[in-house]
Amino acid sequence: MAVFESVADAIGKTPIVKLKRFGDLGKHKHNLWAKLEYLNPGGSVKDRIAKNMIEQAELNGKLKPGSTIIEATAGNTGIGLAMLAALKGYKLIAIVSQKVSQDKVKLLKALGAEVVITPSGKKMGDPDHFLSIARRLTKERAGWFVDQFYNPDNAQVHYDVTGPEIWEQTEGQIDAIVAGAGTGGTLSGAGRFLKEKKPSVKVILADPVGSILADLYDDEKTTPGQYVVEGIGQDFLPGNFHQDVVDLAIRVTDEQSLQAAYDLMKLEGLFGGSSSGCIAAAASSYCIGLEGSGKNVLAILPDGGRGYMSTIYDDSWIKEKFPNWKFDK
Ligand SMILES: Cc1ncc(COP(=O)(O)O)c(C=O)c1O
Repeated sequence: MAVFESVADAIGKTPIVKLKRFGDLGKHKHNLWAKLEYLNPGGSVKDRIAKNMIEQAELNGKLKPGSTIIEATAGNTGIGLAMLAALKGYKLIAIVSQKVSQDKVKLLKALGAEVVITPSGKKMGDPDHFLSIARRLTKERAGWFVDQFYNPDNAQVHYDVTGPEIWEQTEGQIDAIVAGAGTGGTLSGAGRFLKEKKPSVKVILADPVGSILADLYDDEKTTPGQYVVEGIGQDFLPGNFHQDVVDLAIRVTDEQSLQAAYDLMKLEGLFGGSSSGCIAAAASSYCIGLEGSGKNVLAILPDGGRGYMSTIYDDSWIKEKFPNWKFDK
C-alpha cells in the first residue's frame, strides 16, 4: 500500500467497479462499469483539475505564496481548490450559483473558503452571471482566476492522467466511456486519450434535459432551462468542451437521473450525487441500445451523495420539487 507526502498525492487512482444489478441488465448483454471519482480525497473528480491547475499556475508564476485564488464553481472544484489552498497556504474565494446545495456551500466554508453566492439562471455575459462576477472579483481582489471552463490545464490532466488510468485499469478492454460535461474537461481529456489509444472507443455525453450541449449532436434546439442535476449541462459552450471527441449525446430528465442515483445506492451500494445518477442512467440506456454483446462500457461517476443531503436525498425537498412523486427510493 502506498504512503503519500501529502493529500495532493492521494488524488486519483480511483477504483472501477462492475455494476451487477443496476439498469435493466436483462435488456442488454454488455458489461457496465463505474469509476468512483467520489473516492478522491475532496470527494469528487474535480480534485484532479484543482491539483493540476494550481501546479501549472505555480510553475508559470501566476500563483505566489499567499496569493488569493478565485473560482466560479458548482462546488466541487471549489472543494478541491480549498483543500489544496489549505495545504499550500493560499486564500480561496469561491463564486457559486444559488442553485448549489447548502451542503456544498457549508463544506466550502468549513474548508476555509470565502463563498460568494450569485443568482442562478443568468445568461452568459450578464454582469450577474457567476463568471462575470468571478472576473470582476479577480480584478478587485488582485487574485488569480482559475477559470476551469477555459483553462486548458483542466482537460489536459484528464488526458495525461485520467485517460491512462482507465486504459491501465481496463487493460485496454474498454469500448465506451460515458461522462457528463460541466466544463467538459473529463470527457474531452479522457475521451481523447482513449480514442488515440483505440480509435473504436466511443465517447458518450450524458446531458440533462435543459442543457444545450446535446444539441450539437442532433437536430434539436434547446431553450436553456432549469434542472436540478448539479454540475453538468450548460447554457454555453465551454472552452474545455471539445465537441469533436463526443460520438453521441443522451438526454436525461431529472426524474431519470434521480431514480438512477437511488438505484445505484439500492442495488449496488454506490452513493452518488445527481450527476452520477444522470451519467449512470445514460450509460444504462446506451448499453440497451448497443448491438452485439460483451462490450465494456464505463460510467464516470463524478461525486458522491453527501453533498446532496439537503436536496435529492431529502424527502421534503423532493416532494416540493417533484409534487407528482413517482420515485422508487
Ligand atoms: C457534480 C459534478 N459532476 C460533474 C461535473 C463535470 O465535470 P467536468 O467539468 O469535467 O465536465 C462537475 C463539474 O462541473 C460537477 O460539479
